[in-house]
Amino acid sequence: MYADVARDVISRCRSLATYSDEPGFTTRTFLSDSMCQVHADLSAWMARVGMSVRLDAVGNLRGFYAGASADAPRLLVGSHLDTVPHAGAFDGVLGVVMGVALIETLHGRRLPFGIEILGFSEEEGVRFGVPFIGSRAVVLDVDEALLAVQDARGITIGQAIRDFGLDPAHIMDARAEANGLGYFEFHIEQGPVLDTLHRPLAVVDRIVGRSCADAIFNGSPGHAGTTPMDGRRDALAGAAEWIGGVEEYARCTPGLVATTGQVDVAPGAANVIPGRCRVSVDVRHAGDDARTAAIDRLRSLAHEIAARRGLRIDWWPRFDHPATTMSRSLVEMLARAVERAGAPGMIMSSGAGHDAMILAAHMPATMLFIRTPGGVSHHPDESVTEGDVAIALAAGMNFLDELAGAVDG
Ligand code: HGY
Ligand code: MN
Ligand code: MN
Repeated sequence: MYADVARDVISRCRSLATYSDEPGFTTRTFLSDSMCQVHADLSAWMARVGMSVRLDAVGNLRGFYAGASADAPRLLVGSHLDTVPHAGAFDGVLGVVMGVALIETLHGRRLPFGIEILGFSEEEGVRFGVPFIGSRAVVLDVDEALLAVQDARGITIGQAIRDFGLDPAHIMDARAEANGLGYFEFHIEQGPVLDTLHRPLAVVDRIVGRSCADAIFNGSPGHAGTTPMDGRRDALAGAAEWIGGVEEYARCTPGLVATTGQVDVAPGAANVIPGRCRVSVDVRHAGDDARTAAIDRLRSLAHEIAARRGLRIDWWPRFDHPATTMSRSLVEMLARAVERAGAPGMIMSSGAGHDAMILAAHMPATMLFIRTPGGVSHHPDESVTEGDVAIALAAGMNFLDELAGAVDG
């Protein structure tokens, strides 16, 4: 069942993956030109099944499939359309394409609720270092301070919105309608759990918390050939010691993952002792106390290393997202839908962040994970199988049916 639709879903995701800021790779950041092409294709698929389509003030693509009555509540189904650099074809996009496939599979059937499909403009945080701009706008969590955040070229989020032909003054039009029933997101698991357990699907009941910050090591640049080793204030050497300490701390702390994914070195010449080094740190844990203790410890470690090496630390917190619990009733409803689709039951927490953690603070939310072969994600080799996509679609249709029954009462 749904094998043809699943094949179509995968082929659509792969074709959208060719729209990129970087030829030869899939790299699509907030409101870049390549996002226009994604909007054009998705809008055409949405319009073909009778959905009204609009772009809101932060560039979220929003398709609406009306319910049986004009005053029907609405279910939000969505995910993000931006990607990390050199991404795969399914992280985010699959959730939006699956939403459209649900509508197509209704074949014109009207439910006691409308369905709004959302393609969020920014979840990864690549361009501005701040994630979830799209979903934050839907829950009215975008303020002047956020619009003033700049990218590496000094362009603010507000200016990027204007450059895309939108008006940040209309940010309120991104707000979710007040009659939201809840939020449902299909997403690849992005890890090895389902693949290892030979399970196609899992319902997500919790998303771990996440803290991100930048540690800037300030030292003294100097001549690589004439400066004795004693007395050097090498910013990169200090940062390197800290990076090792971050990994060591995470390895020794159960349930903690910590990643230093970005390093900028100045002046960046082979024959100059580095005078400045910025290192990003991304810390995640299911428990908020463990996560905040970790970020505090890693900040102290940076200061200890800097003091020993005659360096100065600037510490720039980027954001802190608490661990988020999904709606119990929607989790149980989706778990029943999965079992009725013939998949073994599985409920798990997510180590990756998702837009669902933003929506969940404002409405009931749940997610359906689809197996990621090899656990490979945030990589061009990211994939899904037709069989898993087909059974996910069957579970999604079962979910809609049970939700319709609940709404009809
Ligand atoms: O980083 C994450 O957890 C997600 O892929 N944005
Ligand atoms: Mn991602
Ligand atoms: Mn994602």
